[in-house]
Amino acid sequence: MVVSAHPLASKAGADVMRKGGNAVDAAIATQLALAVVHPSAGNIGGGGFMVIRQKDGSLNTLDYREKAPSAATSTMYLNEQGDVIPGLSESGQLSAGIPGTVAGLVESHARYGKLSWKELVQPAIDLALYGFLLTQKEANGLNYIQEDLKKYNSILPQFLINEKWEAGDSIRYIDLGHALERIRDRGLAGFYEGKTADDIVAEMQRGNGLITHEDLKNYKPVWRAPIVASYKEYKIISMPPPSSGGIALAQLMRSVENYPIKDWGHNNTKTVHLMVEAERRAYADRSVYLGDPDFYDVPVQQLTDKKYIDDRMNTFDAKTATPSKAIREGVFILKESDQTTHLSIVDSEGNAVSITTTLNDSYGSKVVVAGSGFILNDEMDDFSVKPGVPNMYGAVGGEANKIEAAKRMLSSMTPTIVEKNGKLFMVVGTPGGTTIITSVFQTILNVVEFKMTMQEAVSAKRFHSQWLPDEVFPENGTMDSVTIKKLESMGHTLQFRGEIGRVDAILVTPDGKLEGGADPRGDDAAAGF
Ligand code: DON
Repeated sequence: MVVSAHPLASKAGADVMRKGGNAVDAAIATQLALAVVHPSAGNIGGGGFMVIRQKDGSLNTLDYREKAPSAATSTMYLNEQGDVIPGLSESGQLSAGIPGTVAGLVESHARYGKLSWKELVQPAIDLALYGFLLTQKEANGLNYIQEDLKKYNSILPQFLINEKWEAGDSIRYIDLGHALERIRDRGLAGFYEGKTADDIVAEMQRGNGLITHEDLKNYKPVWRAPIVASYKEYKIISMPPPSSGGIALAQLMRSVENYPIKDWGHNNTKTVHLMVEAERRAYADRSVYLGDPDFYDVPVQQLTDKKYIDDRMNTFDAKTATPSKAIREGVFILKESDQTTHLSIVDSEGNAVSITTTLNDSYGSKVVVAGSGFILNDEMDDFSVKPGVPNMYGAVGGEANKIEAAKRMLSSMTPTIVEKNGKLFMVVGTPGGTTIITSVFQTILNVVEFKMTMQEAVSAKRFHSQWLPDEVFPENGTMDSVTIKKLESMGHTLQFRGEIGRVDAILVTPDGKLEGGADPRGDDAAAGF
């Protein structure tokens, strides 16, 4: 089964498995198809994380996050007074990190792939060159970025310009199709060298961007050990730094483990209060201790230590909200020294893949690489561009996540796999910037504590809180007026908002069947056989 953000991408992955491909093969085909049919987030110009659990239980994660160009500096988005220049890290050529997606997919194929590389790239090429029909949501997305496309592209991507896209319009991406053909025929060199690399560098020169041929050639994905944390009879397997997701999720699960939330109930006052208080503490840690482990010594062991987390929760007051200004990052002895997309896949042998991939916000930098037809990320905004200044998701950071040449920016992406009593249980993840971690947290609890089906757990209303700002953000309709009043009287400030995340997940039911949960907030769809 494949659950992804678009029915055509889920179908591409399921078709690959029908032909005998495994979950990694399907993940490659699905992700490349998403780059065509869901271009606000699916990408070849961005980066991502892959968490793999093979049928024998062995685990691995692949980090193909973007990196800062070699000419990047910690002051590159500041003016002469040292103030942040609004928007500079969010759109345009200068906001782009060195893309990692193609390198990640090639690397995962080399290690795990069963079918030929060419067979996996072809479905995306066919979608791009022969065209497909827009959904209402995809049409809305393209309509929404018309002005930005004109603003950030000196060579207009004519194929995207249209006064009004409508559901059912047929669209083709010819330049992108040919760029995918180069990837099909030449693998890594089809993207990081040759025409595509030339097009990226030329695009940089049109808008003060920094990515060079050397940067592209030097990009390497990294295999990393997963974060593994226990929660009752479950094991949570997730992404290590440079994502903050795995560590924060482990902290959140362990923070609530000792409390009877099953008895309290889903989105009940006590449950929400406890979860928000745990989130306050986890996100305070995130802002200080988390960054690219190749540049900053992230105290992974200490942050996920059960005793440390229990100590953090010692100040939890069951009756009153603790103001965020009273919460700092935890203290321990250090050793010396809103667009993204998720796909969940399980193959017929039981191999599981959980991938979250991104351009950062919707349509990334809004820059379409002329001649190659794909959108570049604006991932540089995930760095702390200035200590204490919030990024587009309101996240603050400092030294650990400052900009340095060739460093990876901190992420919240939390592709996760859950085991129950040593067996594959769930594959889960979502987009949503800093809300990713809390959405994954809630989806897991919805199943393991509140006994929802996978689809119910994905559809259920969500809320988010992240230390700063000191507020709770529930989706509209998350809780009744009594619960709202009670939470407010405890000291919580509630800011209702629109949809949070697009969770795509798979549950293995006790009889061994797969149950997909595709988020109704998007076009998300499960495909299986
Ligand atoms: O890596 C991160 O945490 C962000 N760049 C993810 C962005 C995102 O999820 C936007 N989605 N709505």
